[in-house]
Amino acid sequence: MNQAHRAPAALSFASAEIDLMREPDVDAVLEIELSSNPHPWTRDHFVDALRSGYLCLIAREQSVIVGFAIVRLLVDDAELLLIAVEPSARRGGVATLLLNSVLDRLASTGKSPLHLEVRASNSNAISFYESRKFVRTGLRKNYYPNGVHGNQREDALLMQLAL
Ligand SMILES: CC(C)(COP(=O)(O)OP(=O)(O)OC[C@H]1O[C@@H](n2cnc3c(N)ncnc32)[C@H](O)[C@@H]1OP(=O)(O)O)[C@@H](O)C(=O)NCCC(=O)NCCS
Repeated sequence: MNQAHRAPAALSFASAEIDLMREPDVDAVLEIELSSNPHPWTRDHFVDALRSGYLCLIAREQSVIVGFAIVRLLVDDAELLLIAVEPSARRGGVATLLLNSVLDRLASTGKSPLHLEVRASNSNAISFYESRKFVRTGLRKNYYPNGVHGNQREDALLMQLAL
């Protein structure tokens, strides 16, 4: 991570601001993605998401982007494709702020539920989703390529939250 994008040292990010992502934000978002996801999206994925009208949010603390969320809006419901927080800013409430903003924005569209897929090994993310009352709705066996623990593929856990 370069200095310009380094998150400020803080234990609580309760005052972080949530805003719509724009293309100039993609460099900072990509840095967080690279440090958060073992199989990261590329710059083109983020630009495509923005240009396709996905709900793309960033969290800023003291002008520094510390997290983001990407939601695909479907006909009746929505899918949380990505949510990630800069490693040094985790457990400070940033993902909670991002998710709250997603839910507020979805409420006005009538789209429900919000659903997602998560790697079965991603216990941190599963704990986060369960803390926010997502429920498990299914399992896709061998869904992800490049599983952890030397496996060739990995299961996807399906979760959803009714709005
Ligand atoms: C999952 C992730 C987005 C959570 O972000 P965060 O800003 O740290 O989450 P919050 O601080 O809002 O956490 C809210 C609650 O979720 C739960 N939680 C979050 N991270 C947790 C962890 N590592 N272990 C256990 N519980 C966790 C806790 O209940 C927490 O409340 P608490 O801190 O008061 O105990 C973050 O760990 C991350 O970026 N991970 C890498 C990317 C990823 O896996 N994304 C999801 C798949 S796309």
